[in-house]
Amino acid sequence: MRGVVVARVLVTRPLPPGSLEPLEGHEITILDPWAAGSSALAEVVRDLAPEAIVCTLNDRIDAGVIDAGTAGRGRPGQQATGQQVQGDGSRLRVVANVAVGYDNIDVAAASARGVLVCNTPGVLDETTADLAFALILAASRRMSDAESDLRAGRWGGWALDGYLGRDAHGATLGLVGFGRTARAVARRAEGFSMKVLHHSRTATGVAGYMADLDSMLAISDIVSLHVPLSIETHHLIDARRLDLMKPSAVLVNTARGPVVDEAALADALVEGRIFAAGLDVYENEPAVHPRLLAAPHTVLLPHVGSASTATRTAMARTAAEGAADALAGRPPAHLLR
Ligand code: NAP
Ligand code: GLV
Repeated sequence: MRGVVVARVLVTRPLPPGSLEPLEGHEITILDPWAAGSSALAEVVRDLAPEAIVCTLNDRIDAGVIDAGTAGRGRPGQQATGQQVQGDGSRLRVVANVAVGYDNIDVAAASARGVLVCNTPGVLDETTADLAFALILAASRRMSDAESDLRAGRWGGWALDGYLGRDAHGATLGLVGFGRTARAVARRAEGFSMKVLHHSRTATGVAGYMADLDSMLAISDIVSLHVPLSIETHHLIDARRLDLMKPSAVLVNTARGPVVDEAALADALVEGRIFAAGLDVYENEPAVHPRLLAAPHTVLLPHVGSASTATRTAMARTAAEGAADALAGRPPAHLLR
């Protein structure tokens, strides 16, 4: 800790053991339990005047929270013997998100007030791709329908026409977005002899690139979404695009819920205009659209894409490192602008 300011750090919920080690020596407040909205968080931030916030994707860090953190109402920073004060101890300097997606943070508002924002790319790609692939298989083969019948005592024994699904091996897979997660899914698809296509707004120079999303949707057997949520990608998959898909198609979403119009997806499933859906994310988490809950051929998971112990620990540690770097006056490795 020599040469590092002792700062107040607000951690919005308990993180995996050991993951806050990069922030050792700082004054850490962990909220537990915590499930409140952004106006309550703004109050906590106003009272505590943290110089760093380590948060998760459940926390809405909007302009109100940023304003509360930068109003300069905090007490002076604590300077331990032999340490240099870098900030004035009275204002928020960094928000570190324990997630790669950062649509929960108003980055523009933070940047306008000189607050750094960082996230955790890289450490969760493979774990999330595992889950996306699990959903590809589970939705194509109707695993949830079959398992819930078995558990409920509705299984009458092997039947030639029981729980017929679609083959994933040899299918044409259309990846929407071709960043870290999508590329990890593409690597898995090779082992299933899939033909892999992909679309992103920037040409990738990689075989299988399709500049026209609509054309890719029309020829894909399985469509898997891997774009960040933004104004451009909100309802990217809407009723019109669902209609372009094959009636035999499977849609998988491990990106963000609002990338898909859930009501339109429920209609498409109920009316058999697409075959199945595997979802990990929802428009209004933790609420799930009631018509999706009732729709046929769906596999619905509770946002567990990165949920392995090793990966969640790595994510929390990466965020803590980002916050520690910013507090020490170093640019965080995963700085967002
Ligand atoms: P990434 O490496 O940044 O890749 C994003 C891809 O989306 C890039 O290819 C990007 O292309 C493309 N893209 C961005 N905006 C687009 C648009 N308007 N139209 C078409 N393509 C667009 O991100 P990642 O690490 O793979 O993660 C993707 C998202 O998945 C995250 O933002 C997060 O929301 C979500 N996620 C969820 C879980 C989970 O637990 N379910 C876990 C990890 C990630 P350009 O090169 O053109 O920008
Ligand atoms: C999970 O959804 C993430 O964005 O890290």
